[in-house]
Amino acid sequence: MTAVASVYGTDKWGTHFYTKHYQRYFSAWRKRNLRILEIGVGGYSAFDSGGASLRMWSRYFPHAQIVGIDLYDKTQISESRITVLQCDQTDTAKLASISERYGPFDIIIDDGSHLNQHVIATFQCLFPLLKSPGFYAIEDLQTAYWPSWGGVPGQSSMDYLKSLVDCLNHAENPAQQSPAYYDQNIVEIAFFHNLCILAKGSNDEPSNCPELVAREREALRKNALSV
Ligand SMILES: C[S@@+](CC[C@H](N)C(=O)[O-])C[C@H]1O[C@@H](n2cnc3c(N)ncnc32)[C@H](O)[C@@H]1O
Repeated sequence: MTAVASVYGTDKWGTHFYTKHYQRYFSAWRKRNLRILEIGVGGYSAFDSGGASLRMWSRYFPHAQIVGIDLYDKTQISESRITVLQCDQTDTAKLASISERYGPFDIIIDDGSHLNQHVIATFQCLFPLLKSPGFYAIEDLQTAYWPSWGGVPGQSSMDYLKSLVDCLNHAENPAQQSPAYYDQNIVEIAFFHNLCILAKGSNDEPSNCPELVAREREALRKNALSV
């Protein structure tokens, strides 16, 4: 993937060092008929500039349909298997309608505004709409440490993502009565330099803690008696 990134000139390798991680996570899915969404086409307000990473995904995944969205109108960048749409990543109604029309997506990459509150709100909108199994990647997390980008301690994108880590072990929480959405649907969170990749799947593995196992059995027994 790094070679493909260099051919198309995306900064996913060189300025940043993401492609080696994507290669590890995505190579097994390379030949699949995937639907991929990337937020942030590139080129900012220059109407005819951008699309490097969309071309990289298209080349790397030869059977995938790629959708790119950007705050600016870059629809003329669309080509075979690449659809470019204008959409502000904070417009959750439009994101949902794009998912409805072009998804559900197997892979979502957020390489958009990188403003901390945007990153969090977009994740909260799109992660539930992502297919399971699926991957959600967030790039350029260096802005989590930049106050002018909303990287305020306690409210940053990294703080938010770190708070999701406990979801992986929700079955071990004796106080928890019923697992929440992220508890049930996140099976892996991988952090790299400025990059986070979350894997969606069914996190339904039970605890091996004897006390929690006994409580689970008792709940099942009561359920069975009440039927
Ligand atoms: C870093 S560039 C994307 C680069 C591209 N993904 C690549 O690797 O070649 C970020 C893009 O996000 C877009 N962007 C900024 N704010 C946005 C927002 N609120 N919603 C959607 N796109 C936004 C910018 O216009 C810019 O084109």
